Amino acid sequence: MKGIVFTEFLEMVEQKFGLDVLDSILETSDLKSNGIYTAVGTYDFKEMVALITSLSKQTNIEVPTLIHAYGVYFFDVLVKSYPNIFDYYTTAFDLLAGIEKHIHVQVRKIYPDAELPYFIVHEEMQNKLVLEYQSDRAMYGFALGLMERTLEHYQEVASINYKLLDATGTNVMFTITK
Ligand code: HEM
Repeated sequence: MKGIVFTEFLEMVEQKFGLDVLDSILETSDLKSNGIYTAVGTYDFKEMVALITSLSKQTNIEVPTLIHAYGVYFFDVLVKSYPNIFDYYTTAFDLLAGIEKHIHVQVRKIYPDAELPYFIVHEEMQNKLVLEYQSDRAMYGFALGLMERTLEHYQEVASINYKLLDATGTNVMFTITK
């Protein structure tokens, strides 16, 4: 997992829960990196799991809730870091349908070792978009947060429903309806 995902996660923890919680999760998680991340580095996804699990214990907030909150937070990081992508698209559906074929393709060019999910567009209509998420990391809650913020960014109103296609959520069907 890319360092930017770690550095921004720690930033969110500090902003939302304060420095004490940040220090404490870094201390209690067993991290090979010792909690020292650079945005362009690459680190074991297990470290993210350890950090989120530790944050969940500290705050009594469930892991899925935290992952979703991180997706919501990370959207603003993306808008700041890659404004051109958001200018290029004019609707939320176009952007979301373009993650696999355009956006993450560009990400792979910048970071060849990025661990990205795979999205399959099953249906793309004016008022309905059906996307299947596939990733061993099962970060579908992160995807949900990003999708919600994408709709808000383009000032569009739609409901997002999702269904886990397996027990762990490595395969999830999203249906977005206007
Ligand atoms: C992961 C870039 C939009 C879904 C990532 C990562 C980067 C990235 C750098 C981390 C890869 C790694 O850790 O190795 C971008 C950029 C975007 C964008 C530049 C737009 C400007 C989106 C959107 C979604 C999305 C709109 C919404 C569905 C995800 C998910 C992950 C991810 C779920 C976590 C990894 C996983 O589930 O396997 N993205 N992304 N991305 N992205 Fe995107």
